[in-house]
Order: sequence, then C-alpha cells, then structure tokens
Amino acid sequence: MITVRDLHKMYGDQALFRGINLSIRKGEVVVCIGPSGSGKSTFLRCINGLEFFEKGEIDIDDIALHSINRIRPSKEDMETLRKIRLKVGMVFQQFNLFPHMTVLENIAEAPVKVLGMAKSGADELARSLLKRINLAGKVNNYPAELSGGEQQRVAIARALAMRPEAMLFDEPTSSLDPEMVGEVLSVIKDLVNEGLTTIIATHEMDFARDVAGRVVVFDQGEIVEIGSPDDIFTNPSADRTKLFLSRVLKR
Ligand SMILES: Nc1ncnc2c1ncn2[C@@H]1O[C@H](COP(=O)(O)OP(=O)(O)O)[C@@H](O)[C@H]1O
Ligand SMILES: [Mg+2]
Repeated sequence: MITVRDLHKMYGDQALFRGINLSIRKGEVVVCIGPSGSGKSTFLRCINGLEFFEKGEIDIDDIALHSINRIRPSKEDMETLRKIRLKVGMVFQQFNLFPHMTVLENIAEAPVKVLGMAKSGADELARSLLKRINLAGKVNNYPAELSGGEQQRVAIARALAMRPEAMLFDEPTSSLDPEMVGEVLSVIKDLVNEGLTTIIATHEMDFARDVAGRVVVFDQGEIVEIGSPDDIFTNPSADRTKLFLSRVLKR
C-alpha cells in the first residue's frame, strides 16, 4: 500500500536520507526504532506530506508523491498533498488538540469541514469513537480537563474520524507519565489488530515486539536492518542494531 523509493532528504546542506527504500503492505504493522535523531520522525512526516524531500518517490495506493518545490508548489502538488493527508492519519508525541473545543468538537470538526459530513453524523461518529476508546463520559469536557493519556486517546479518535486507510504514530507515548502509557498503547494495539495499516515510531521496545509485523531500525538517516521482531530483538545482525538495543534494553 505504501512504497518509499530512493528517498533523499536534506536539512539545509546536511543530507539526512540518501536513498531510503521500504514497502508496506495493506494491513501491515511496521515499527520504526533507532536512536534519537536517526530520522524516524522525518520519515513519517515525508510519508504524510508534512515534509518536503529532494529526490525519490512515495506511492500511497495510486497516489504518487514526488519532490515538490517547497516555495512554489503547483496546484497539482497541493492536490496530491491533500489526497495523501486524507488517506494517511497521523498522531504526534504532543497531542495538539484544540484547547477551545470540547472533546466531541475536536473529533467532529474535520469530518464536517473536510469531508462535508452532516454535523449530526459527525457527532454520532465522534460518540462511537469515544465509546471505543472508553471515553464516552468525557464528550463535553475540554482537553485541559483530561489527563495526558486521555488527551492522546482523543487525538487518536480525531485521526480515526477521518477514516484513514493508514495511520502513522510518532512516539505517541513519549510525553506521557509512565502510568498512562499502557492505556494509549492498548488503544493502538486494538487498531492494529483490526487490520489498519500502521507505522509506529516508538521507544517502547516491549510494545514494538508485541505488535510489529516488521521492525525497521534507523540509524543516522539509514535503515540499517529490517526484520521480524524475533530477528531484531533476539538475533539482530547489524552491529548498529546491537549497539542501539544494548543501550535501550540496558542488558
Ligand atoms: N526542521 C529541521 N531542521 C533541521 N534539521 C532537522 C529538522 N528536523 C529534524 N532535523 C534533523 O534531522 C535528524 C533526524 O531527526 P528526526 O527525524 O526528528 O529523528 P528521530 O525522530 O529519529 O529522533 C536530526 O539530526 C535532526 O536534528
Ligand atoms: Mg522523532
């Protein structure tokens, strides 16, 4: 469903990606791990059209995203970006909920404004999503009245309300207190089990091992290894994977 081919990405005059390749099948769950600064976030942001890149191609179903002139994107380019963002939802480390809107409004806003859904239908959709993430009781609360874990679950529901065909999660639990990590991971795990195509960047190694179909190891802007969770966590072959795991697993 998602194919990344020969992706090149510069930040200023520094090359981050010098030709990344990865294909993801429909329904697959890919977990990206690797040290901070290795390029996980940039990779996800390129797939979602949030970040421009210099060379290569990203195909999402029948949509092909190429290098776009960031200063003067064409009308066609803007249309490609719009289509990609409709297909691919993203959840960030910071929840980015609208503080002046209730939980229900946060979720129902985009389906009405972007998809043209009737308000009553969008409200109903929001309520059913809230039920699914066990927050039916918080419909009329404002984000500031929720815990971090609850806010992140609402952010996930908000992305799902757009009925994306794939979801990207960029360290969705990194800014949460430890006791709230589990509730957010459990919502993501349910989605994954329902067959949603998913790419997750995370430092939660137990979770990665649990949900990943494939694990992709990034280091310094390169994919150094791709394998099953068993391959990567019990029998890694790349030295850089071993070094990274020895640091995070403190063995
Ligand atoms: N907006 C930016 N401008 C310049 N450099 C950036 C920017 N975003 C990321 N980088 C650099 O790109 C590299 C990869 O960053 P990032 O994709 O955030 O990695 P990760 O998510 O794995 O921590 C880092 O060296 C980072 O400093
Ligand atoms: Mg990151």
